[in-house]
Amino acid sequence: MAYSEKVVDHYENPRNVGSFDTGDDSVGTGMVGAPACGDVMRLQIRVNAAGVIEDAKFKTYGCGSAIASSSLVTEWVRGRTLDEALAIKNADISEELALPPVKIHCSILAEDAIKAAVADFRSRHPAAGGGTLVSE
Ligand code: FES
Ligand code: FES
Repeated sequence: MAYSEKVVDHYENPRNVGSFDTGDDSVGTGMVGAPACGDVMRLQIRVNAAGVIEDAKFKTYGCGSAIASSSLVTEWVRGRTLDEALAIKNADISEELALPPVKIHCSILAEDAIKAAVADFRSRHPAAGGGTLVSE
């Protein structure tokens, strides 16, 4: 199967590979797996005091489309609020990367990883509500 140029680009030059310290309060970590193939994706976001995602990193054990999808979303979530990040849909990812139907689940994995990272961050900041951090 031929991968699109954008998939190959993200696969060969993945953006923001790595991890943040999970003990850091400003970090949310989402770890998800794809039942269809067993691939695993970890996405982390670093959120500033205004509730905006300043930085994101990923580590993915998976196919080229999964790596490209996670690389792409680390770029997309930057500068967004948590709610804006949750608005990123797998259809946006698969369209941007021109994923074929058998690879749609790779983009779903990336959407799920965003949701999991935001949920983790929010669970650690119950007062933050809609994405604005309230200092105590
Ligand atoms: Fe998991 Fe693509 S099937 S690597
Ligand atoms: Fe399973 Fe891509 S995440 S084939």
